[in-house]
Amino acid sequence: METVSFTEMKQGTQADYLLLDRYEQAHTATLADRLLMALMGLKQGLAGYQIDRLQHSLQSATRAEEDGADEEWIVAALLHDIGDDLAPMNHSEFAAAIIKPYVREEVHWVVAHHGVFQMAYYAHHLGKDPDARERYRDHPFFESCVRFCERWDQPSFDPHYSTQQLDHFEPMLRRVFAAEQVQAHD
Ligand SMILES: [Fe+2]
Ligand SMILES: [Fe+2]
Repeated sequence: METVSFTEMKQGTQADYLLLDRYEQAHTATLADRLLMALMGLKQGLAGYQIDRLQHSLQSATRAEEDGADEEWIVAALLHDIGDDLAPMNHSEFAAAIIKPYVREEVHWVVAHHGVFQMAYYAHHLGKDPDARERYRDHPFFESCVRFCERWDQPSFDPHYSTQQLDHFEPMLRRVFAAEQVQAHD
């Protein structure tokens, strides 16, 4: 494999950086493959629920699709807990960062905040604030995040629900993460 000439970045030539740019583009193009692998890894994730975290993710995406949501929402529902293993303290931000270049701002914001909105369903059992999401009450995407949690996330722990499997969502995931769909926003 061709490699760069430098051992310190500041010594690199234009040819070096053009070479790296080509490798980077090829690597980015296979992001969807790595996301599919990461989703499969959720089978071994957090314990204690009646279904594993992959099935929760698939069920959330299934419910989004059945609601007539578009592909950005369905893929967001599929990936919303992908940070459970590597970012247990801020898994919402982890997933949001991954999808940010590929989805519109509303979808990104909802995934980034779903964790605090989900607290409405359980935080009172743990001595925490179930109304923590109220600080976002005036945000334009507040109701969208309420809906994401109420209809797709919080009900998706049902072992008897007819849930689509990963191969059903793979083409959607690949379309959303296609490079030409990259969107620019802060
Ligand atoms: Fe979550
Ligand atoms: Fe979830």
